[in-house]
Amino acid sequence: MSVRVLTGITTTGIPHLGNYAGAIRPAVAASRESGVDAFYFLADYHALIKCDDPARIAQSRLSIAATWLACGLDAERATFYRQSDIPETTELNWLLTCVAGKGLLNRAHAYKAAVTANVDAGQDADAGVTMGLYSYPVLMAADILLFNAHRVPVGRDQIQHVEMARDIAQRFNHVFGKGRDYFTLPDAVVDEQVATLPGLDGRKMSKSYDNTIPLFSTAKQLKTAISRIVTDSRLPGEAKDADSSHLFQIYRGFASNESSAEFRQSLLDGMGWGDAKQQLFALLDAELAPGREHYNALLQRPDDLEDILLAGAAKARAIAQPFLAELREAVGLQSFRSKAANSTAKVKKTTNAARVVSARDNDGQFRFRLRNAAGDVLLTSIAFADGKSAGLAAKAMIQGSDEWQSSESACALWQAGVLVAECEAELADAAVIALAELRALED
Ligand code: TRP
Repeated sequence: MSVRVLTGITTTGIPHLGNYAGAIRPAVAASRESGVDAFYFLADYHALIKCDDPARIAQSRLSIAATWLACGLDAERATFYRQSDIPETTELNWLLTCVAGKGLLNRAHAYKAAVTANVDAGQDADAGVTMGLYSYPVLMAADILLFNAHRVPVGRDQIQHVEMARDIAQRFNHVFGKGRDYFTLPDAVVDEQVATLPGLDGRKMSKSYDNTIPLFSTAKQLKTAISRIVTDSRLPGEAKDADSSHLFQIYRGFASNESSAEFRQSLLDGMGWGDAKQQLFALLDAELAPGREHYNALLQRPDDLEDILLAGAAKARAIAQPFLAELREAVGLQSFRSKAANSTAKVKKTTNAARVVSARDNDGQFRFRLRNAAGDVLLTSIAFADGKSAGLAAKAMIQGSDEWQSSESACALWQAGVLVAECEAELADAAVIALAELRALED
């Protein structure tokens, strides 16, 4: 069984070298490991909590999407999407809000820090605290639990949020599960191996300290940033204390052990800071130049980025939609129709007519099939985790809430932006006719 790894990136900034070394590079590497099913998304709803500048949000989403692809994320292999393209996230957010304890959220570090700052400033404890900030961990729990992620790679500041997601999941399972664990309990993963890069001034590289090195700027901007790295005043020829130099730490984040050792030795032997900066530039530029080109090319093609992200959303929703239907039922929001009436397996038994049958296949998944009067399969649905979801999708198809899209080789049926069923192009006409027949029967 594969391990589902999921993480979100808040879309408020433009990625810098620290984000690359600390999050993007390891996540892209993890997505290529066998046995890993990676779900990476742009947390653009979370961004709204931190930023009310629409232009900045818009630019950041575009930049982050292009950055991940330019850094080698394979969007076919991983599921790469925007949080705001998955309406099931906000639906689940509400279901979870109704089981999340207010006391639990009172203890969230980010909220507590805001309260402390207010109190210290002599203001009302909740001054400037939105419900978005307060409920931030619930939305994050929805992101994680909707896809039953096992592992959630995060920075240290986010561990508490993942633990809260566990708590909320447990509570939902307990209250509504009737013996079934709807939600997998996620584990936060903090990779100790991953480099935390220092910034220009030696503090952790962070936008809030204004000490970052941009990731995909021009070579010239990269050079300028590197020239701003703070060093001590030792002259060329004087031995440098390499181990306390953050310039060396940045170098080490990108070089092999061998070249790091050489670089370190040169500093001990008195290499001047100017030369050291020159070498660091050469190293970084070599690593970043190919991605930089790819990044700039992607930014020129926002329509393609849109297509890639929508395809990712369709993949994600093929999981989220049927799961949310189960969760709705678990809390009592099911359809008024009886189960039997809901099941398309019982579609009228008129002989010699087209019909839709949903069934559990050998792989344990449920699919519906549209057959013509002779019994030939014309159209086969995607796999659903349960019979009810397959039935609902089949029903929606019969009721006509569908759009067709065809390419040369295949014809696909979509519902609300999600791919539901496919057939070979040459069967498409027959499928449309059979469907029309079925609808006539229903009427
Ligand atoms: N809160 C995370 C951060 O600021 C981003 C995020 C949103 C996230 N939803 C998530 C991370 C779900 C992991 C899983 O870094």
